[in-house]
Amino acid sequence: MDSNKKIWMTLGGIVLAMLFIIVLQLFVRTPYQTIKVAVIPEGEYDPAVWGRHYPLEYKSYLRNREMAASPTGFGGSEKVQKSIKEPEILVNFKGMPFSIDYTEDRGHPYALEDLRDTKRVDKTTAGACMTCKTAQLADLFKEKGWDYAKMPLLDLLPQLKHPIVCANCHDPKTMNLRVINPAFIEAMEKRGIDVKKAPREEMRSYVCGQCHAEYYFVPVGKKVVFPWVRGLHPEKMYEYYSSIPNGFEMDWKHPDSETKMLKAQHPDFEMWSGGVHAGSGVSCADCHMPYMKVDGQKYTSHWVTSPMKHGKEACRTCHTQSDQWLLDRVKSIQNSVWEMQHTAGQTVARAHQAVGKASKSARADRAQLDKARELIRKAQWYWDYVAAENSMGFHNPVLALNTLGRSVDLAHQAIAAAERAAGGR
Ligand code: HEC
Ligand code: HEC
Ligand code: HEC
Ligand code: HEC
Repeated sequence: MDSNKKIWMTLGGIVLAMLFIIVLQLFVRTPYQTIKVAVIPEGEYDPAVWGRHYPLEYKSYLRNREMAASPTGFGGSEKVQKSIKEPEILVNFKGMPFSIDYTEDRGHPYALEDLRDTKRVDKTTAGACMTCKTAQLADLFKEKGWDYAKMPLLDLLPQLKHPIVCANCHDPKTMNLRVINPAFIEAMEKRGIDVKKAPREEMRSYVCGQCHAEYYFVPVGKKVVFPWVRGLHPEKMYEYYSSIPNGFEMDWKHPDSETKMLKAQHPDFEMWSGGVHAGSGVSCADCHMPYMKVDGQKYTSHWVTSPMKHGKEACRTCHTQSDQWLLDRVKSIQNSVWEMQHTAGQTVARAHQAVGKASKSARADRAQLDKARELIRKAQWYWDYVAAENSMGFHNPVLALNTLGRSVDLAHQAIAAAERAAGGR
């Protein structure tokens, strides 16, 4: 073989190998092409162990411990009591633990610590509360099924060492995204979606949706259920609750208005799902876990916090406007929603007081009082759907404002019904 032929054969070989890699990449579109998947055993929950193999992701994950306000003035990662700015919380949640302690959320590594510290926990608190706070849920569910949910939380807490860690979202063997919360898997199944077969793009939101969603505990057994069979819109979830599903009638009874109340829990996934971003295929991870670059190496940021702390990477991959313009848009949406949320919350508080006052009169019209109570229950649900959601309306501004508008209207109707009731028959 002459040397020219050798050179051509080598070159041809290189071209073929490159073509092979390109074709392979077309078929195997995982982001892990550049990383070597390490073998981490199932049941390894210590993020530091995972971090030895994935140092860039781990380093950014550690930033979740940083506590700082958000540039929008809303949200943020500091533990601030919400009732300082919204005293109506003390009236609307009277008679239940959220009136004692209700703080702004912070980073994932604090989940267990904050659960241990909250004054909302006592010896009657159900083990079900740990469902969204630790990856060790996987073991507990395998071992006990839903029986873990009815155990006292205080009995479970000593064995819980790892909060929200890598294993909540990743299969340790393949590093593919996964969900471990059985309540989410079941709720999606009921909507005809098999999350075990979901495409990667969907998984980039499902890993978050498994915790950032509304749920309730079934009264007997404390199983966690997501109220989604009729839909994710606040009206559809309210209808579902009105059917007293699995015997669930209320979260608590309000002591002033004697209304059977619902407590909404962070419906971030639901709110996002009807918005313009979800409609355009923008996932939670697109904004909250943007791609970063160091020394030419691309990786996913695991500092899951307000995207406005790194707007360039989070928003400007799609938006051509300036950082300042985007920040101003977010703030103006949030300010409008905040104003309406505050108004709705205060109006609902007045409704509780009006019904409480009317019900003290022996002459009060009982039928009108019951009507007023049903109106309060619904008004507060609509207010709380937005107030308990974490983005101050940004995830879906139209739905947030519409829902708060309904809340104000219903609360006024409740006050009017209470006044009619007090007027006697
Ligand atoms: C809240 C969910 C969540 C947690 C917790 C989490 N990850 Fe990820 N991780 C993701 C998402 C989402 C992606 C993007 C994957 C995709 O698009 O396919 C990702 C991607 C990755 C990748 C692929 C390379 C890259 O940077 O895109 C690695 C490696 C990784 N994560 C390691 C870790 C490690 C190590 C931990 C724990 C310290 C961890 N992850 C915790 C959600 C999570
Ligand atoms: C295992 C349940 C779980 C999963 C999975 C999860 N979260 Fe969380 N998330 C929580 C809890 C609980 C908190 C509040 C922790 C605290 O305040 O102690 C929280 C807090 C947050 C915060 C507030 C952080 C801050 O700085 O204030 C953001 C933002 C967030 N999550 C977004 C996401 C996104 C995006 C995903 C998916 C990529 C996700 N979460 C996946 C349970 C979860
Ligand atoms: C288009 C970008 C975008 C998408 C998509 C998105 N978010 Fe957000 N999210 C934001 C912005 C902007 C805020 C407001 C942050 C602030 O006020 O600083 C926010 C706030 C939050 C917060 C509160 C953060 C804090 O500081 O307390 C949580 C939790 C959260 N989002 C979770 C989610 C989840 C879960 C999903 C998917 C179901 C999602 N987000 C989808 C942009 C997005
Ligand atoms: C993956 C692409 C993508 C990312 C990332 C993204 N957006 Fe968008 N955004 C869109 C699309 C698509 C629309 C729909 C309107 C349009 O086509 O411009 C939109 C619309 C908007 C709107 C107007 C709609 C409304 O809800 O009022 C605002 C404001 C906005 N985005 C802000 C942000 C901010 C802030 C971030 C970062 C936290 C962000 N976006 C991240 C794609 C994206």
